[in-house]
Amino acid sequence: MGTQSDIKLIDENGLRLDGRKPGDLRPLKIQAGVLERADGSALIEWGGNKIIAAVYGPREAYPKHNQDINKAIVKARYNMAAFSVDERKRPGPDRRSIEISKVLSEALESSIMVEQFPRAQIDVFIEVIQADAGTRIAGLTASSVAIADAGIPMRDFVTGCTAGKVDGKVVLDLSKEEDNFGQADLPIAVLPRNNRIVLMQMDGDLTLEEFDQATSMIMGAIPRINEIQRSALSSRIKVQDSGGE
Ligand code: CDP
Repeated sequence: MGTQSDIKLIDENGLRLDGRKPGDLRPLKIQAGVLERADGSALIEWGGNKIIAAVYGPREAYPKHNQDINKAIVKARYNMAAFSVDERKRPGPDRRSIEISKVLSEALESSIMVEQFPRAQIDVFIEVIQADAGTRIAGLTASSVAIADAGIPMRDFVTGCTAGKVDGKVVLDLSKEEDNFGQADLPIAVLPRNNRIVLMQMDGDLTLEEFDQATSMIMGAIPRINEIQRSALSSRIKVQDSGGE
């Protein structure tokens, strides 16, 4: 969270800098099957975010001492391209991307039937090509589509959204300015069938009441986001059926 600044993020009519109302999502588009070599893939465009998720596996885990005899290991690797942000991002893993990779791996593992693939590994590469805000959630939401595109058995999708607090108000799906100059950012991801939470992090401060408001806004948006994930897959299947790529 940035420090409080003079930038006014919500105007006198209650509208945000990009014209959205507090409960509106940024434009969201997902396309499945965008890479030919990967077992599964997806491109998500969410606000100004452009992120590709590529899935490989399940395949034998290597090195062997990493294998789990009871289940597949899920390894997500979140990476921001050097040109994805205003100030060049130094290439390679940093503390932030290592942390994000860990929480995304855990969230995805809870959605996959990992027990069906002992000793295997499922790799999920998340490449942020253009970053706006909410890239971990957008990357996770895309990864779940890519895993389904790879035909890997899943209990459910993982579907996420963020909410936060800007100019003292709780709003859904923070933009970059809101993320930088707001007072709190709360990314949450769930398995939408039973709303089980598989990722929750918070940056900044919210009162209990604001936290409840933020979580209900997110839960209200989850079915819409999940619908977009599902239609990305069904359009992919339609293209395949009609003899397309
Ligand atoms: O992207 P997300 O909101 O999940 O994570 P964050 O750590 O809260 O980062 C918020 C935003 O800050 C990112 O989406 C990027 O636009 C920006 N950022 C950046 O400009 N340079 C970095 N090295 C990391 C993040």
